[in-house]
Amino acid sequence: MPGQPIAPQLELRFRLGLYAGVRPIRAIPGVPLALAHPRAKEIDLVILRESTEGLFAARGRGEVIGDSEARDTMVITRATTERLSRFAFRLAERRAARLGRPQKVTLVDKANVFTSMAFMRKVFREVAAEFPGVPAGEHYVDAMALDLVRRPWQRRRQPDGDAALHRADARLARQPWGRAGLDGCGDGAGSGGGRRLRRWTAQRGVRRRGHGGDRARRRRAHPVSLAAARNSAAMDVFEAMATRRSVRGFLPDPVPRATVEAILSAASRAPSGSNIQPWKVRVTVGEEKARLSAALRAAHDAGAQVARDYHYYPRNWREPYLARRRKLGWDLYRLAGVARGDHAAGHAQRARNFDFFGTPVGLFFTLDRDLEQGSWLDFGMFLENVMLAARGFGLDTCPQAAFCDHHDVVRAHLGLRDEEALVCGMSLGRADPTEPTNLLVTERAPVEEFVTFGPGA
Ligand SMILES: Cc1cc2nc3c(=O)[nH]c(=O)nc-3n(C[C@H](O)[C@H](O)[C@H](O)COP(=O)(O)O)c2cc1C
Repeated sequence: MPGQPIAPQLELRFRLGLYAGVRPIRAIPGVPLALAHPRAKEIDLVILRESTEGLFAARGRGEVIGDSEARDTMVITRATTERLSRFAFRLAERRAARLGRPQKVTLVDKANVFTSMAFMRKVFREVAAEFPGVPAGEHYVDAMALDLVRRPWQRRRQPDGDAALHRADARLARQPWGRAGLDGCGDGAGSGGGRRLRRWTAQRGVRRRGHGGDRARRRRAHPVSLAAARNSAAMDVFEAMATRRSVRGFLPDPVPRATVEAILSAASRAPSGSNIQPWKVRVTVGEEKARLSAALRAAHDAGAQVARDYHYYPRNWREPYLARRRKLGWDLYRLAGVARGDHAAGHAQRARNFDFFGTPVGLFFTLDRDLEQGSWLDFGMFLENVMLAARGFGLDTCPQAAFCDHHDVVRAHLGLRDEEALVCGMSLGRADPTEPTNLLVTERAPVEEFVTFGPGA
């Protein structure tokens, strides 16, 4: 159109077939930050911007009808979406390996308005399924713009400090979508905390402030569950499952008691046969934990193992379980720098269990001995809930059966009753990103290996 400014950089993109504008955004230590917030130093994300499709595909093809209307057509192809999505997931894998923490890929779009973007979401999800180890999410562009302004350092929710895939146009402030405002923020894909919290409380019959009734009684029943709900809105269940892993090196950062309570309260929603809730938890911190660690290390060094309260492992190892166990051991020891046959180094690595891998909070789980196998099953569900709820708070865990070899020591120090079997211990805290063993990504057998679909399934 006469008078239209030229865009030579676009010409280059089309000629060279460029499809991924890689825009790393991070705070560099020692370089002054434009933002005053103390957490600004945590900013670390990458925006990938597709360069030739979306509205840009209309470049030079738009039409002005009469002098009253102008039209540009948006184009999104499967080929480019697949290519860009794969690029993003591979980048996330590389970043995860380098940074020692999972990296999420978030598709930023306006799929609630544009058919082309709903199609892009569909293709993105297909590609995401090829990368089960990388958490994937979606965010509306206006909600993302808000989050990038409000908390660009935030890792627990989008954009999460992770690889973000922004297709179409990064000029969010100009709102090329034709709709102003924050219409993505009130629904599940937006920031969503308020509505989710309301839905959560409604489902549980927890009345909201100002509605009177039996509020006080319900508060006693769920003392910190509202806090848990607020935080759980930060991470969806798939992300929590995908990012849970056994962490064997923690930062010394304290975990507030209220957070531990909120995690355990949320976890207690686990199902149990006839709702008998067989789990018991003993939390240990500070001086008591330090004394226990010292006693456990001494018992470990002396080789003073006692018979466990239960048989965790098969008495006769066989395939495929033996090979999986060996692989885990080798992979872990390789990262820990323990050479094969170096028994002293192996002993030292195992001893780290008894220091709770450096975290300030230790949990012990016990079960009344007179309960049956069903209760052990219930217990497993509770344990997984604890670990997932911890992820909701941005925390990590390591479940530890190692303590069972010295349950006599644990029992004596924590005053556990003889009638209680020690199920396991657990370290809870914030993962140390510099700990080499935290780079371990354990494998899982594919679905075909453990699932049989019956006729018609
Ligand atoms: C009940 C239980 C006890 C475990 N005990 C230990 C332990 O004592 N020390 C340890 O380093 N890891 C322990 N693990 C972690 C497993 O090795 C780990 O879950 C497994 O290798 C899969 O890896 P992931 O948790 O990172 O996905 C335990 C796991 C479970 C479920």
